[in-house]
This record gives sequence, C-alpha cells and structure tokens, in this order.
Amino acid sequence: MAAPMWWLPPLLRCRPRFPATRGPGHGQARRISTEVVVQGQSQAAGGEEADSEVSARIKTFTEVQAEGLEQAQKTVLISYPTGISKKSILQYLSHHGRINSYFFYKGHGHHAMVEFSEKESVGSLQDVAQIAGSSVPGIPFKSRLFTLTPRQSLGQALDETSIPDYQHPTIPMEDLVQKLCCADSISNQLYSLLNEHQLTEENMKLRFLACSLIQDLARAYFPECVVKPFGSSVSTFGKLGCDLDMFLDFDEIGKSPTPKKTGPFHVEYQIKRMPSERAATQKILSVIGECIANFSPGCTHIQKILDARCPLMRFFHQPTGFHCDLTANNRIALRSSELLYIYGNFDSRVRALVFGIRCWARTHGITSSTSGPWITNFSLTMMVLFFLQKRKPPILPTLAELKNLADAEDKHVIGGHDCTFVSNLNKINQTENTETLDVLLNEFFEYFGNFDFGSKSINVREGKEHSKPEPSPLYIQNPFEQTLNISANVNQNQLDRFVALARECAWILQQVNQDHGQGGKQPWGLAAILVPPVIGSKKKMAKSMLTSARLKALLDSLRADIANKKGERAFSSWSLK
Ligand code: GTP
Ligand code: MG
Repeated sequence: MAAPMWWLPPLLRCRPRFPATRGPGHGQARRISTEVVVQGQSQAAGGEEADSEVSARIKTFTEVQAEGLEQAQKTVLISYPTGISKKSILQYLSHHGRINSYFFYKGHGHHAMVEFSEKESVGSLQDVAQIAGSSVPGIPFKSRLFTLTPRQSLGQALDETSIPDYQHPTIPMEDLVQKLCCADSISNQLYSLLNEHQLTEENMKLRFLACSLIQDLARAYFPECVVKPFGSSVSTFGKLGCDLDMFLDFDEIGKSPTPKKTGPFHVEYQIKRMPSERAATQKILSVIGECIANFSPGCTHIQKILDARCPLMRFFHQPTGFHCDLTANNRIALRSSELLYIYGNFDSRVRALVFGIRCWARTHGITSSTSGPWITNFSLTMMVLFFLQKRKPPILPTLAELKNLADAEDKHVIGGHDCTFVSNLNKINQTENTETLDVLLNEFFEYFGNFDFGSKSINVREGKEHSKPEPSPLYIQNPFEQTLNISANVNQNQLDRFVALARECAWILQQVNQDHGQGGKQPWGLAAILVPPVIGSKKKMAKSMLTSARLKALLDSLRADIANKKGERAFSSWSLK
C-alpha cells in the first residue's frame, strides 16, 4: 500500500527537497521527475544525469545540505514598495544574470526571493547597489538584502495576476478537522495532515537563504566557516512555522589538507588559546552575535544564551520571518538531524505518523513552545521511531543496524562519541511490515499508554527497552551521547498527562473507528483525537480530559505568543544547563 502522491506538495512532487520516501513494503524508491517548476518557470534540472540517477535514488543528507546552501549563495532577497510590477522587478534583475527561480511573498513588507543561475549575478547586483544616503542614519553594510525603489513612478502594475504572492499555507484547526473528516481512512487523514503541515520548497529555500545570509556575516571573521541548517528544518519532520536551527561549522577550517612536504619544519597556524572548547564556542557566538546585532539588517530580538548546555544565539530574522537559534561546535546535533532524515525518508508511514503525533501532542499541550517540564518534539519523535522499531516485523532498523551498514566515509566519532551510521538509504533493506497507519496510530497510543516508564528507558540505538539508569520519569537515551537522557526535563506530572491522554486516545480511536461511516458528520479517527468529541462521546472522562488539556494548550500557546512577541522564546531542556 503506497502513500498517495498528493501528500507531497506540488513543488516537491516535481523535484522534492526531501525526495519521496519509500512506501510500506515497497522495494523501490518512487521515481520522480526532476523537472523544476517554480512559480511559472520551468526548466530541466541537470539534464539526463539528474533524471536517470538523482530521481532513482534518495539524496543523502549531505547532498541536500550542499545543494541547498549552494543555491542559497546565488540568491538575493529584494524588498520593494507596494505598487511596483513584479514583472518589472524580474526584468530588471535579469539584466544581472539568468534567473533560475523566484517567488514573491508578503512578510514584513513585500519581498522577492530570486535565485540566479550564477553566483556572479549577485556580485553584479551588488556592484550597482548603493549604501542608503545620509538621510538614513545607519551602519554601511553590503549584504544580499536589497531594496528596490523606482526612480520615477512606473504607473500602475498591469500584470500582477500572473505572478501571485507565495503564501506559506496555513489551515485553521477547525478547517483541518473538517478536512480530515472527509478522508476515508486514518491513513489518508495522516497523509492529509502531513500535506498541510510539512515544509514547502519555498519555505526550505528561505531557510537555506537565512543561513547563507548569516554565513556572509560570520565569514567576515572566519572566511571558511559554513552556516548549516539542522533540526526539524532539515530532518524531514519540520512543520511550517518551526524554528530555524543553525549550526556554525568550522570543520572546513580545521580540516588539515593532504599533508604536504614542508621540508625540515613543521608549520602550523598561531591561534588564540582558550581554556576550553566550550569557552571558545561561547566567545565565537558572542562575537558573531554582536556582529548580527549591530550590522545584520533585519535581525531583531537578539538574545545571547551562552550559559546553556549548548550555548546559542537566538534572534528573529525579519525578512524571512524565522526564529533562529545559532549554535557552534554542535556536530552531534547535526548527526542527530541526519539520523532523523534517514528514518524520515525510509518509509512513507514514518513522517505521516510523526506529524500526526506531534500535532496531537501540541493540540493537547503535551508539547509546548515555552520551556518547561514538557516532552519536546525531539523526544516525542524518538518515541515514535522507537515504537516503529518495536513493531513485528520492525518498520525501522535500529541505530546499531544502521551502523553495521556504514562505509568508511560514514564513520564519525565526535568528541569520543560514536556517531557512525549509513548515509545511503538505498543500502538499507526494505521492511516487510505492511501495517496500515490506521493500525499504527492506535497501537502507538496503546503501546505508550501501557509502557513501563517507571523502570524502563527507551533506546533507539538497540531498539529495545533497558533498565533506567537513574530515576528521571521519562528516560530516552541520547543515541550518540549514550550516558545522557534527552528527556531529563520531563516531570512526573507531564509524563502522567501523556500516558492518560494516550490511553484515552487509544480508546477514542477504537470507538470512532466503529462509528466511522455512520452519518459522517462527527469527527472520527485522527480528527476525533485532535478535538474533544462534541456529541456522541460515551466516556465523559475522555471528553473532560481532552478539554482540560486543550485549555492548557491554549494557555500555553497564548503565553508562547506573548513570549514570542517579546522575542523571549523558550529554551529547550537541552539549551538549559
Ligand atoms: P522543532 O524545532 O520543535 O520543530 O524540533 P527540532 O527537532 O528542531 O528541535 P529543537 O529545535 O528543540 O532542537 C534542534 C535539534 O537539536 C534537534 O533536532 C536535535 O538534533 C538537537 N536536540 C534538541 N534537543 C536535544 C536534546 O535534548 N539532546 C540532544 N542531544 N540533542 C537535542
Ligand atoms: Mg528546531
């Protein structure tokens, strides 16, 4: 039973950022055309090689990163006043070089994201751009953010209907629930939800661009550094609106070139010594943070959170609308994202289930955007992956199995931690498990509604429970730093809420499954667990639990909104010491 094609957004269908995953029980990656179609433009991507090879295999995480960052470097972000014809903007920009792709959007003002075919075109535009005159006090800085203002009135734009603004699709919860009610199976409900919430190709391009703009700035200090996205932006589990986790990578600088003969002397760079690696990371982030705060246009609400276990710089990138967390010396987190990417692409059921569970958890206040003792999305995702490893036959391989398939180039040891696993998805055998998502969603709630959290820990590396090494209510072993618990922040109360809701939802899913098709008006399946059942509930407790959890979720998200407005987003457990 393959996933329906429509769960991929149109642009992904043509040339997926995250190439289409494999369907349950299928031995082949789905073949996808690599034609690029971006807002009215259409062209072949990479010719025959791309068609025959790229579409036949799923790209590695490293390839996706490299491609995204390379495209971002050829991209500019244009801000322009109302009333200018979009076509005239494109016409003007095309004098600087061939345009590969573009889209227009409204965020803080009108914007056009334009990707040139060649990097030189960006330079050509920069050559004619001027630093705003003395009437606007400011610090001169040449970036890839430009403002286009017409020298004289260009008259009314005539052709706007042909180039619509791109809008990140958002669907209110009530509409989503209604939509889900129309699906004919829980499986299709989950794919439908995934389709509504997953990152679009445009959103991904903006994420890579934001990283690339910060990289420009960081390169003023460290010319060879790279700023890479990690976390849910690239792990395949990102939901529209999720934060943008950035990683300042110095690996290229540190990499020693192939040893050259240097004669009788050993030659090395003089560097400033630091008391510890942590101190060096804090210093670097502090300096880059100052730089972002002072010189980077559009970066606001800057917070230095340098005392956290994972020091970071937090800021809002206004032109793209992303809340960003910039970290350095964080290669293990990048590997975690790659591991999730492997799992997310392995079987089409994985992302659909993770998105469904994440959405359910957010709706009921199990997860939150504020810091606190709740389960994080990262931990919740690990729980879903673990559950899928435990199915019979397993849907997902264990990390240990992925390690056994690794090549020499997959070997990674970071800070003494073994982070080795296979990067080529095609080397992993398909699962023989053909369970439907209808079954899996219900079984997830059954499984964790009855899990022995009191004495067992969750271990994705081995794909089995272990005895808890310490008494944290929820113990999910960090897959790489194996002595750490990624959910150490979760308190007993939050875990109890999760368990109680899981049990109730398992019960509700069984009930609504029986009711489904009788009238079709009541929320059923996934829809029923995203809202409290209005009529027809035979179990009042389920209703009141869902209602109170929902109220709590509403309060949480109100608090989060206020915090967001103040630029005071939550620190995850991980970012707190
Ligand atoms: P959302 O932002 O909630 O969509 O999910 P996310 O996966 O991006 O989580 P978050 O932004 O909190 O963290 C970004 C990445 O940092 C995660 O994907 C992990 O790779 C890593 N990370 C987050 N929390 C932990 C933790 O507790 N331990 C470790 N080792 N890594 C973590
Ligand atoms: Mg994130």
